[in-house]
Parts: sequence; structure tokens; C-alpha cells
Amino acid sequence: MKVSVIGTGYVGLVTGATLADLDNQVVCLDILEEKINMLNSGNSPIYEPGLEELLRKGLKNKNLVGSTEIEQNIRNSDITFICVGTPSDNNGNIDLSYIKSASSSIGRALRDKNGKHTVIVKSTVVPLTTEDVVLPNILKKSGWKRENLGIGMNPEFLREGSAIHDAQNPDRIVIGFADDVARKALKELYNPYKCKKLECSPRTAELIKYASNSFLATKISFVNEMANMSNVWGIDFQEVAEGMGLDSRISAEFLRAGAGFGGSCFPKDVKALAAAAKNSEVESLMLKATLEVNDIQPKIIVKMAEERLGVIKGKKIAILGLAFKPDTDDVRESRSEIVVRELMEKGASVVAHDPEGMANFKKIIDVKMAPTPELATEKADCAIIMTEWGLYKNLDLESLLERMNGNVLIDGRRALNAKKADEVGFDYKTIGLG
Ligand code: UDX
Repeated sequence: MKVSVIGTGYVGLVTGATLADLDNQVVCLDILEEKINMLNSGNSPIYEPGLEELLRKGLKNKNLVGSTEIEQNIRNSDITFICVGTPSDNNGNIDLSYIKSASSSIGRALRDKNGKHTVIVKSTVVPLTTEDVVLPNILKKSGWKRENLGIGMNPEFLREGSAIHDAQNPDRIVIGFADDVARKALKELYNPYKCKKLECSPRTAELIKYASNSFLATKISFVNEMANMSNVWGIDFQEVAEGMGLDSRISAEFLRAGAGFGGSCFPKDVKALAAAAKNSEVESLMLKATLEVNDIQPKIIVKMAEERLGVIKGKKIAILGLAFKPDTDDVRESRSEIVVRELMEKGASVVAHDPEGMANFKKIIDVKMAPTPELATEKADCAIIMTEWGLYKNLDLESLLERMNGNVLIDGRRALNAKKADEVGFDYKTIGLG
């Protein structure tokens, strides 16, 4: 099939690369010439394992190309995926401006096209956006008759760091369609994948995406709340999580307690769904609690340090981990941001390290960085692990203690062996271990 993809961010590039790999003719579209030039020269504009190889393969066998000529390429394709960003505004409401401008471009492109065309929203959007915003806008700008246009919503469930694997080995594919044109196109496109395909309305597909992310985020906040109780009751929450996870209805996934969830999806999506519910006058107590617990977790980390150090002011504190999870340079909504800000406000001298995320974090907070965890912890009164990088899990605890000025070690991700840390002589504290 001839596929055009609007937006060469995370979702757009992974969608384009994997559809090209299924032998479709894919054109990735963006207004930013720099990104398209990078793409066409075989360099991925974002870091994601396996993506660059797939892009290069697509370019080489001519199944994939990037272009800034948006309308012409939409017109020449059979199906267009909208993969633009949907950020939150200051009140957590979804900002649909990129969705609106993408659908306007599609509408303008279709003015000079005859036949049929399918438009699929892949960006995460609040329920009713595809039917009430995208569809009318395209019809208005194109002057097309409704029956020639296919409209659908097909969410992605990609995790950063394993997006290509997730796209090629999906648990399920959600085919949201408003008409048979879109249904047929999506079924044909995804035919090579043999997983369960769920057919539903666009609004159902939109909520499946939000409900899935909100449920996972809620699962994390729930275990964090249980872990906070474990802290005071002398219980090891890891054992509790193991006991819970053995129940197949609960599953062992997403039961890791710690400093809370971050990243480009969970915080934004939970806020957007809560804001959409509020706008429709529906109470969303669960979502509110999920966000509140997530805001508390980094504060508990700071409190753990404060209780051990007495005062924070004037203390040298090493922060190990700035990325929102390991194996990424993404620091968006990272819990480290809250911890670093609070420690600096309290007068600590903070030195941070992250294997990949330092440059991005520096754009948010001008904190002192050290090139290695060893240098970051040199003469520190306290070290705090905020991301469970392998590098930190393998730290030599004896030499860490020798290097430091004090012995306070706070583990925000349960990355270390608690018993070993105690034996070495650390005043070790982690979430979920009483
Ligand atoms: C997530 C969803 O998993 C994916 O399906 C969706 O499309 C986008 O959002 P991602 O943001 O890449 O993917 O990260 P994920 O691996 O899910 O982790 C999100 C956050 O939750 C991280 O900050 C992680 O540290 C935290 N987390 C995860 C926990 O605190 N405990 C857990 O048990 C699991």
C-alpha cells in the first residue's frame, strides 16, 4: 500500500519504518527540513534501538523516503497516518493544535484528488477527537463527500527502548474505524501480523489507549502506596509484589515500587484523560489519586535523605540517574527533576550523573554534572539512585563508601542489594523495605 505518515517523531518514525518493512511504499512527512534530511541520509532523528537499521533498510530498498512536500505526498498515497504530538497545556488539557493543522493539510491535499483515501489517527487523542475534530476538518477543507473518505483511529502501545520490537510483536492491534473504507485499509495493512485484532469505533480505540496507559500508571501508584506502608511496617514490598504477581489476574508486570513514573506518555496521558473527564463533568477520582501518589514519591526520597542528614543545606548530594527510565536519554517528566529541584531549593550542593540523559537534563535545570558516577559521588554526604541503570546496579559498594564523605545511600529504584549495602556500612534506605 502507499502510505504517508505525518510527523517524524517517535511514533511516526517507528510506524513508517515498520510499515516499510512490511513492503509498503512509505513516505514520512515533516515540516522540519533538517529532520527529513537526516532521515534521507540514513540517520535517525531520535535514538531508538533498531530504528536506524530499519530506516536504512527501507531507504535502500526504496520502500521508505522522507519529504517536506506534505500535500503532494498525501495525495499520492492511499492511506495517511497522523502521528503528530499531542502535548498537555498548563491545565493538563490535551493541545490539539498539531492534530488540527495535520488534518487541515490532509483536507487541502485531497481537494485535488479523486477516488478514495483513508486517514488514520495514531497520535494519542482524547475520545471523540477523530470523529468530532479530524473528520469534519478534513471534509470542510477538502470539499469531499463523506463516502469517499476512510476515517479510523489506531493507537500505538510502544515503549521507549523497545519500540521496534513492540511494533513488530504486538499483543494486540486496535482497529478503530468509522466506515468500511478505513476498516478494509487497516485490515489489509496489518494482515501480516497474526496477533488479536480488535475492531471497534474510533472513540473506543481512543479510550483503549488512555485506559491502558492510565491503568498501568495506576498500578504503579498503587504499588507505591503499598510500598510506603511496607516502609513503616517492617515489610519487604518486593516479597509482597512477588506474592501479588503470582495471581494471573494481577500479573507480575508493573509491580516495581519506587520514585514513581515519568516519561512522555504516562503523566501526560493520565492528566489529559482526567482533564477530558472533568470537561465532560465526570469525576475521575482514581486518576487524581494516581497523579497525587506519583507526586508524593520523589518527596519521600528527599525526606529519607533529610531524616538521615539532619539538614540538607550545605550537604553534597550525588544524584545517580536523570533519565525517566534506564536505556534512554529521555528526561521528560523524570522524577529526578523534582528531587533535584527540591534539594537545590533546600540549599544542597547537587552533583548529578546519568549515562545518557545529562545533556537533556541540563536544558531543564542548570545542575552540576559529573562525567562518571565515581566523580559524582566523590566526597558526597549522600548518594541517591534515581534510575536503575545497569552501571549503578554494578557499583562497587566498598569503593563507593570510601569515596564518599558520609554513608547515606538512598535507592529510589531498589536497584541495589539492600543486605550488601547494610553490610558494607551504608545507612541504606529504599522505598518498600521497612
Ligand atoms: C509507556 C507504555 O508502557 C507504552 O505502552 C505507551 O505506549 C507509552 O508509555 P514508556 O513511557 O516507554 O511506555 O515507559 P515504561 O517502560 O512503560 O515505564 C514508564 C514509567 O513507569 C518509567 O518511569 C518507569 O520507571 C515506571 N515504572 C514502570 C515503575 O515505576 N514501576 C514499574 O513497575 C514499571
